[in-house]
Parts: sequence; structure tokens; C-alpha cells
Amino acid sequence: MQHPTEIDFGTPLRTSAQEVTLQIDGESVTVPAGTSVMRAAVDAGINVPKLCATDSLEPFGSCRLCLVEVEGRKGYPASCTTLVEPGMQVRTQSPKLQELRKGVMELYISDHPLDCLTCAANGDCELQDMAGVTGLREVRYGMDGANHLHAKKDESNPYFTYDPSKCIVCNRCVRACEETQGTFALTISGRGFESRVSAGQDQPFMESDCVSCGACVSACPTATLQEKTVIMMGQPEHSKITTCAYCGVGCAFKAEMKGNEVVRMVPWKDGKANDGHSCVKGRFAWGYATHKDRITTPMIRKSITDPWQVVGWDEAIGYAASEFRRIQAKHGRDSIGGITSSRCTNEETYLVQKLVRAAFGNNNVDTCARVCHSPTGYGLGQTFGTSAGTQTFKSVEQADVIMVIGANPTDGHPVFASRMKKRLREGAKLIIVDPRTIDMVRSPHVQADYHLKLKPGTNVAVISALAHVVVTEGLLASAYIAERCDDKSFQQWRDFVAKPENSPEALEQVTGVPAADMRAAARLYATGGNAAIYYGLGVTEHSQGSTMVMGIANLAMATGNVGREGVGVNPLRGQNNVQGACDMGSFPHELPGYRHISDSTVRGEFEAAWGVSLQAEPGLRIPNMFEAALAGSFMGLYCEGEDIVQSDPNTQHVTAALAAMECIVVQDIFLNETAKYAHVFLPGASFLEKDGTFTNAERRISRVRKVMPPKAGLADWEVTVKLANALGYPMAYSHPREIMAEIASLTPTFHGVSYEKIDQHGSVQWPCNENTAELGTETMHRDKFVRGKGKFIITQFVPTEEKVTRKFPLLLTTGRILSQYNVGAQTRRTENSQWHSEDRLEIHPHDAEERGIKADDWVGIESRAGHTVLRALVTERMQPGVVYTTFHFPESGANVITTDNSDWATNCPEYKVTAVQVMPVVQPSEWQKSYAQFNQNQLDLLQAATTAPVLADAIK
Ligand code: SF4
Ligand code: SF4
Ligand code: SF4
Ligand code: FES
Repeated sequence: MQHPTEIDFGTPLRTSAQEVTLQIDGESVTVPAGTSVMRAAVDAGINVPKLCATDSLEPFGSCRLCLVEVEGRKGYPASCTTLVEPGMQVRTQSPKLQELRKGVMELYISDHPLDCLTCAANGDCELQDMAGVTGLREVRYGMDGANHLHAKKDESNPYFTYDPSKCIVCNRCVRACEETQGTFALTISGRGFESRVSAGQDQPFMESDCVSCGACVSACPTATLQEKTVIMMGQPEHSKITTCAYCGVGCAFKAEMKGNEVVRMVPWKDGKANDGHSCVKGRFAWGYATHKDRITTPMIRKSITDPWQVVGWDEAIGYAASEFRRIQAKHGRDSIGGITSSRCTNEETYLVQKLVRAAFGNNNVDTCARVCHSPTGYGLGQTFGTSAGTQTFKSVEQADVIMVIGANPTDGHPVFASRMKKRLREGAKLIIVDPRTIDMVRSPHVQADYHLKLKPGTNVAVISALAHVVVTEGLLASAYIAERCDDKSFQQWRDFVAKPENSPEALEQVTGVPAADMRAAARLYATGGNAAIYYGLGVTEHSQGSTMVMGIANLAMATGNVGREGVGVNPLRGQNNVQGACDMGSFPHELPGYRHISDSTVRGEFEAAWGVSLQAEPGLRIPNMFEAALAGSFMGLYCEGEDIVQSDPNTQHVTAALAAMECIVVQDIFLNETAKYAHVFLPGASFLEKDGTFTNAERRISRVRKVMPPKAGLADWEVTVKLANALGYPMAYSHPREIMAEIASLTPTFHGVSYEKIDQHGSVQWPCNENTAELGTETMHRDKFVRGKGKFIITQFVPTEEKVTRKFPLLLTTGRILSQYNVGAQTRRTENSQWHSEDRLEIHPHDAEERGIKADDWVGIESRAGHTVLRALVTERMQPGVVYTTFHFPESGANVITTDNSDWATNCPEYKVTAVQVMPVVQPSEWQKSYAQFNQNQLDLLQAATTAPVLADAIK
């Protein structure tokens, strides 16, 4: 696809109702007031030389290369820091300006290694460009004076190099780290000639606060900060715009290529989710796509104790289809099912649920959203009428109060966290509701106004207490409620939350949050202007996950904070395509577009389009599939792109269920933990190897573009098509655009979505149809709620059954870390492991001391479900009584400990509350020992995979 030329306007876009007209080199140009002369010039097609200016950063005015002449003014002002004025007459070229600029360049070049031919940035260096633009031909001062040419490189970061000999001290990196990323890891140390960029206190990058987001690397105009892949491979030759395959922020990237190899991923400036920013995962952690562990040939085996047999696609698909039909003949139509994943594209997910419903003939399809945001679907559906975040990310720029509940944006959604932190630095207020002291509570220039450090499992009590204050202190948005909400449900809810037992004082013991803080936070949320709520899995992954989502929606409606910019209720989606996976009908009870399978009109539309009759009853959810497998009635599973063994709770229960099945087909890029229980392995394609779309947390549908051929020859959607055909249900698509056309034709909220539109505009946001703007809907529920009147739901706090006891006196909660991603299958196969090479148990010093645990000790963690061993990280981030771990490494067995308690409405597991005991130990747990053995056996069986031709019949 063609993308617009990236123009650097030098300074950021300004918006103003007032326009200013001026003359630049005789050209008349009109721009918003507040625009720089430099930007106005670029608007008029005139490029002024520059080095320290770039349009993603505020102007700094240090290089003095952008000097211009202004009629009637003395001197030569810098055009990047000079604002336009009406009638201004500007000259960007004159002999004097040329001479001054040449002089500036001479100074730079006299202290710069002139190794352009062998420099990694050759051809992509602004200093080189400016030497050309200014006509510099010689350096009068010579090259022998004092210089920095032998300054030592810092190679500590695995992804980029800092070569101070090439630094022109333009400050762009420092500003990028401050303004764009919000980490403040860089400074200019020293003065005058001695000044140089330094990370932290003159530390190597890896020892500083740097989080390797790459913003400084992108901002650097020279090769001082340079990607190591560019140093190794040279400048890229061509590029395509695509979407990050990690988290639900959905950052757009330019994949810069040499032939079929990625040289670097550059955050795409026109990407509406990220505006040119990135985090360490999307920017640098893509090497897994070509990792040697990739499996690129289909494999089959009769039993999981057999070595794998390498076979061709037709044989593998034929075997899978014959096994599924055999199982159905033996155990009934409902004895098989499919699990799709939020890692897959919309088109792939749609096809899997279509395969299950139309070819398997049942509704046994589920997705990993079951274990993360299914309560969002239920809760927002009940209250607002649809399951989706209400805002764009950009909306946070209008927020006056930001409430973050059970989310850790700097680790989980880093690019959005940067946007949020920028708004906080501008003065927005911050309320954090989290059991841990996450980074957002206190980071450079950001300090939460209130941190409601609740006890895990008491979310609903907190939301009731906040609502109690709003209702009883007269802070309700009465006119909004009267106009937009259902009156009866409002009155019932109001009377409920007003009860004395829901007051902050009454609930203080339960929640652990001081009543005064609770009251103050509620007042701030209700009266501080535009108030926006962002929440994560700390809300949903509870036995009352759906209740809490509804509680959040109630609070937002009660204070009038839904339906315009700067407010709203926003689930921060964990995986890249959680929103899309849910939209595409991958839950057992819903067809695409959240329409219940029991609705005969909707079902009829799909039956007509698909040429089959569909079951009217919802199928099995993932936990029900496990139960049915153990009961002997669910015997076959098609699992695409999800690692249920590592990611679902109560691992031993999951593995027992898988071991009980007769045929498990896993489609993935690696032999993940689930594949170790599989009978058919279908090699998957990475996001670089296929076309499709992802939908991010803003409901933004963006393209994923194939930049290299699939390593195994087929993209994932092609594999599903083949499987459907082998099962006797014909599917015929020649490109994912045709799948999207089918989705659009059958899903009212997608009627206006097409590849052509996305290719033309970059992205669209659903709902996108004849009733919305051309590019869809930025802010939901603008004039009225999707369901008509917003509905309040009573949210009675019911404590979880998972209680601390003398035997299990601590509460374990889980989460993830910036550098790793979920089950870690991708990030563990990159240099990101340099930041986090093992899961640790975070424990408060008091709890550690009581148990004789010191930093780095091995500790056993035991729950009612299981036992595992990790090393301790003693930290005051934790509150006494609460411990925490990540779950990125299979051998950690974090989910061996989590129980199968789940949300009452959706079965979303209660990952965030597990009662445990923690004790020092000296050896791995029994589970870890048996896992190590099983894992080694499976790797040996993979190693022993034979390529001898084996007919499917022979192994039956
Ligand atoms: S990589 Fe990001 S965090 Fe690190 S110094 Fe550069 S801008 Fe700052
Ligand atoms: S490292 Fe690059 S961006 Fe930073 S001051 Fe030096 S030249 Fe400028
Ligand atoms: S914030 Fe999320 S989408 Fe963006 S680069 Fe990082 S992982 Fe990718
Ligand atoms: S670009 Fe204006 S002073 Fe550097």
C-alpha cells in the first residue's frame, strides 16, 4: 500500500479558532494562531533547515540552523521558536542566512567523525542532509581541535547503541524521553563543550530508568542513538504499515524491510492509537518471528507419548478432520469444539467460530477473552447496551480527573500510559485504585492524588462506597440522569448505595481504604470536571468481575461522565485483539456483533448466509469444556493461537482435562505448553506473515499487513479454510478482505467497514455504518446510550469464597510486566528477557521478615489448588498480607496456584485473589519437578520428529 510521505513540520500542530496570515518568501500562508514560523513555512512548501526541531516535540531553539529574517525586526530569529504574527514578512533564504547556517554547520562538523560512508545512518541522517542543504564544503577550523571523536560507546541496551562521538547535543532525545515517553531517564550532563547526553546519573542505559521505548532513538537526527539491527543489516529498502501484535493499544508501525527481512519497526506517526510512539515490545521485540524454535511443518501423532511425525498440510488437515468426525460419530455432535484467541486477526477468529458453528455443528467455541474481559462484555452490555470502551485514547487529553482501577498502564499499556502521563503533567488529577503501589502512583512529575490501596477482592465494596458519597453528598448529575438514564433502575440503585452499610466508614474494615480518602476521591471524581475511568484485569478477574464493571458504569452515569470527550468508561484490553475476538462472535452464546445465538432472526441471517442450520443453544465455555473432557463427553479440540495450559487457572485441572481428550489440534507458531498435549500441530503464521485486521481497545480496526511469506506456507485463515473443507463444509476465500466483507454484511455495527476504507484512511472505529460518520464512531453513547436509557444495576458486595485462613494467610494477586507479554512465548524469545528473566514473588518486608525470607530467597507458595516455588522480591510496593507475581514463564507455575473460582456471570477466573501461604524452601515444588520431566520428554519427542512419510491411516 502507498502511505503518505512523512513530512516533518518541525514543530507540533497547534489548534486555534484564530487564524493568522503571513508572507513567507513571498508566499501567503494562513495557519492557526500559535503556530511556529517554521511550521507555517512547511505548510507553504518551504523547508527551513533545522536540527534540533522535529514536529513530535516542543521547540527548543538550540541549534540556530533555522534562522530566518523578519521584516522590521533586528537579528535573525529561530523560526522554530518564533510564532507567526499577522502580516509578518519572513525570508528563509538570503546570503547572510546562508553564511550563518554554514557557520553553524561548520562547528557541528568539526566535532563529528566524518565516517559517513561507513556510518549506519548513511542516507538517513539529518546532519548529513543539513550539510548538503547549507552547502558546506569545507571546515575552516580543521578537525584537529578538541573533540569527542573517541568518546566511548554505550552498548548496554540490547536493541540500540549510544555513540556519544556522533552526538550534536540537540536535546531531541532528552525531550522525547520527557515529553513523549514521560520517563525522564535522560539529561544533558556537563556544560558547554563538555555537555553530552547521559542516561540517569551518567550510567549505562541498562542501569538507568530507561524503559527502552525507543522514542529517543526515533528522535535522534544522527547515528548517535541507533538501532543495532540497522547497524548490522544496513538501511532498509522498503516498508509497509502494520499493527503491533502485542497489547490492546494497537500501535501502528512501519515495518522497514530488506527483502523479506525486517530491519526495524518504526512507530508510525499517522497511527491514531500511538501518534508515532511505541514501547519496547512493539518497537524491538519482534525477533521471535524468526526464532529457531518456530515450527514450520505440520506434525501429527497418535498419542502424546509418541514422537511427532512431520507430514504435509493435506495429511495433517485430513487427519485432524477424520479424528473430529470419528469423535463426533462416537461421542456425539457436541463432543468437539474450538478455542480461538485474541492474538489472531478478526478474520481468523471469525472463521474459527464459523467453522465450529457451521462445520462442527455446535456452539462450542470460546476465546481467551473468557479469562480476561468477558465481564466487560457482560457488564457494559447490561448497563450501556454494548461491550466496548467508550472513548478514543486521545480523549484522555480532555480529562480533568483520571481514575485507574485495577490496571497497570505503564507495564500493560505503555503507549497509552505515556499519553495519560502527559495529561497528568498538564495538571489532570489522578485516582488509583489498586492493591499495589504501581508505578503510576509516583513517577517523575506524576503523583496520584489518591491511591486507594484496597485489599484484593474488595473492588465492589470500593465502588459502592464511592457511589455512596456521590449519592449522599448531593453530587449526582441529576439533569443527565433524568434525561439519559432509566429512572426506575436509578432510584433503586440510589436507595441501595445510600444505605449506611455502603458508606466508606462502614466498609473501611472490609476494603482497607481509609474512609477519608474514599470520600475525598469520590468528591474529586464527581466534581473535578471531565472524569474518565480506565480499568483492567484487576477489575474483571474476580468472582464479582461483572458486578464491578456494572458498578463502574453506574458511577460514571451517576456523575454524567459518559458520552463526550474526556470522560467515559474504558477497559484497557490486554491482548492486541481482545476487542476483535469478542466482536467476532467467538463466545459460545453470541454471533458476531454480540447478538445472542437464541435470537432466531439473527440466527436465520447466518443460516441463510452460511447454508446450514445452527444450534439455538449456547455451547460450552472453556471451563465447561474441561469439565466435560474429564467427564468423558468432550473429546476433541481445535485450539488456534492460545496457550490454555499456561494461561488458564488451576493448571493441573487443565492438563488433566487435555490428557483426557482424544484429539487436540493446536495451531501456533511455537510448541507451546498446550501443544505438548496435542495430537496434531498446525504451524501458525506470525503477524508479519499474514493479512488481516486487529481491533484495539478504542474499537479501532487497523490493518495487519503481510511483509514476508508465511514460514509454513499458509496463513492461519488459510488453514481454517482447509480444515473446514476437509470436514465437508466448503469455505472459499482468496483473501482476508473477502472475509471482512462477509463480516460487514452480517454485522450491523460493521456494515461500513471494508479493507478499501481502512487502506485509504488508516483505520476505522466501529460502530461504522450508514448511521455513523464515514470512519465510524470515536465516542460512544453521545446522545443516548446504545440500549436507549442507561440502566443502573444494583451491585451488592459479596466477598469471594477464597478467604484467608490460618493455613493460607496471604492473598496472591497476579499481573504482568512491561518487558514480557502474557505467557511469554514471544517475548521470552527476545532480548526482552534481559529485563525480566524469571517470575518473582513480590512480598512486603513485614511478611518476609515474619517468615524469615530475604531478598532472592527461594520461597514456596502454596494454595488450595497447588504449590510452586519462585524467588522472592521483597518490596514495599506490596501491602502487608498481599503477595504478587507475574506469569510469563511456564516453569513458574503461577497458574498452578490459582484456583478455578470465577466470575458469577461469565466464568472469568478469579486470578486476582488466591489465598496462599509462603515459606522459604530449598527445592522446586513437586509440580515443577514433574513439569520439568514432562517438558523434557516433549522436547525430546519433538527432537525425534521423523520426516518419514506416514499415512494418517497407519497411525490410526
Ligand atoms: S528508550 Fe525511551 S525511556 Fe529509554 S531513554 Fe530513550 S526515550 Fe527514554
Ligand atoms: S543523542 Fe541524538 S538526539 Fe540526543 S542530543 Fe545527541 S544527537 Fe541529539
Ligand atoms: S503499547 Fe502495546 S501496541 Fe503499542 S508497541 Fe507496546 S505492546 Fe505494541
Ligand atoms: S531547529 Fe530551530 S533552533 Fe534548531
